[in-house]
Amino acid sequence: MIRTTVAELLGSNNFLQDVTLKGWVRTFRANRFIALNDGSTINNIQCVVDFEKTDETTLKRITTGAAISVKGTLIESQGKGQSIEIQVNKIEILGDSNPEEYPIQPKKHSFEFLRENAHLRVRTNTFSAVMRVRSALSFAVHKYFTENGFYNFSAPIITGSDAEGAGEMFKVTTLDIENPPKNEDGKIDTSKDFFGKMTNLTVSGQLEAETYAMALGKVYTFGPTFRAENSNTTRHLSEFWMIEPEVAFNNLDDNMDLAEDFIKSVINYVLEHSKDDIAFLDGRYNQEEKTKPALQRSEMTLLEKLNFVVENNFKRVSYTEAIDILRNSKPNKKKKFQYIINEWGADLQSEHERFLVEKHFKCPVILFDYPANIKAFYMRLNDDGKTVRAMDVLFPGIGEIVGGSQREERLEVLQQKMAALDIEEKELWWYLDTRKFGTAEHSGFGLGFERLVQFTTGMGNIRDVIPFPRTPQNAEF
Ligand code: 4AD
Ligand code: MG
Repeated sequence: MIRTTVAELLGSNNFLQDVTLKGWVRTFRANRFIALNDGSTINNIQCVVDFEKTDETTLKRITTGAAISVKGTLIESQGKGQSIEIQVNKIEILGDSNPEEYPIQPKKHSFEFLRENAHLRVRTNTFSAVMRVRSALSFAVHKYFTENGFYNFSAPIITGSDAEGAGEMFKVTTLDIENPPKNEDGKIDTSKDFFGKMTNLTVSGQLEAETYAMALGKVYTFGPTFRAENSNTTRHLSEFWMIEPEVAFNNLDDNMDLAEDFIKSVINYVLEHSKDDIAFLDGRYNQEEKTKPALQRSEMTLLEKLNFVVENNFKRVSYTEAIDILRNSKPNKKKKFQYIINEWGADLQSEHERFLVEKHFKCPVILFDYPANIKAFYMRLNDDGKTVRAMDVLFPGIGEIVGGSQREERLEVLQQKMAALDIEEKELWWYLDTRKFGTAEHSGFGLGFERLVQFTTGMGNIRDVIPFPRTPQNAEF
């Protein structure tokens, strides 16, 4: 007999068929009703055991977390709460789960507790739903780009360059750190390292993606990126996945159009294909919001938020306009948003971003044309000589979800910017070659995949949307 999944069965009304199911016990009550889950859907299937025909030892071994195999007949359910159930003819315990020791009990666990059990938390409803939605989003990303003529490109993970110039890199070395080889002047001899030089884990695949865009036209990378920044927030990870499209001949407007269309498309995909999981997460989110003080509560349900993003235009505002709005808005001590009046030239703090998105425009916002001195070296300088063609997409509850720009394609201007920031040309000679040979206008952006998953699932903490989160002082698993 072919094994079926719970998802397949719940969509079927082929009653009286014989089925074989394997999965894990969620609950077992009255020595009779097993709620069985196999990961294929958020929903459990009820398996009804005939305890008179089942031996005592087997019954005792049907505990939460145990792996079982069930053979039986699919019937219309007699009870409330489900339309179908399985009348069990044969049950086999595949793997016991000692209830005294198993940490995941059928009750509400705190997310902190579950983070300490990251290897088991995916067995809960919330985390299984989040991880299925994450998987669906990942598929939607590849689908979108493939259908729009992009080539997938694998950026290297070990690199010799710092794409963002922010110095937040994890070093990769095979040198004996306790006793490293030294030069005559007493400094560590990095030429003895594995690659003959210092290397690090990539912070972004952008620079390499630019070289590929200048040959293949439209490319994207979707890979892990690493940041050694000491940010202990609900939006930062030390290891996160980034989606980075890069397009030759696109200007900043094209880049904004792409970002908006792309985000809407992947959220739409999940709304259509992950209905049960989103419905479950919507319920969880709305419950959670109710526990918050009125001023911090979201005005929309999760489903409303997702539909809103898909159906409405993102508001496009220049950095300079945004600063004017912030300057003219009155700080209110009683309200959640207290903002110091911002001076032109300063980077926006997350409270400023949240004010613009959640209180002022009440929709996703694309801020563009930032001051050059707060953005990376590769962004195209505007004619005003002080702003660059940068863009950040800001989302409610998340803040920055995308960072991107039109790139500086003029060799001399790029060289001047690098010199001003002490970035040595010999470090990036290959990058500069794209500007020497057939340079052209081009643009791209990076979307933090976990921030997208966070928004789509309504989870409050980014650590709860990646299987095994890495954050400062924490890489247990
Ligand atoms: O704004 P960032 O630093 O931009 C870049 O790395 C560009 N090279 C991308 C490009 O143009 N190809 O990062 C891009 C996005 C952010 O908007 C955010 O969503 C996410 O990556 N991100 C993080 N996500 C989780 N944890 C962190 N520590 C993150 N840092 C950035
Ligand atoms: Mg950024």
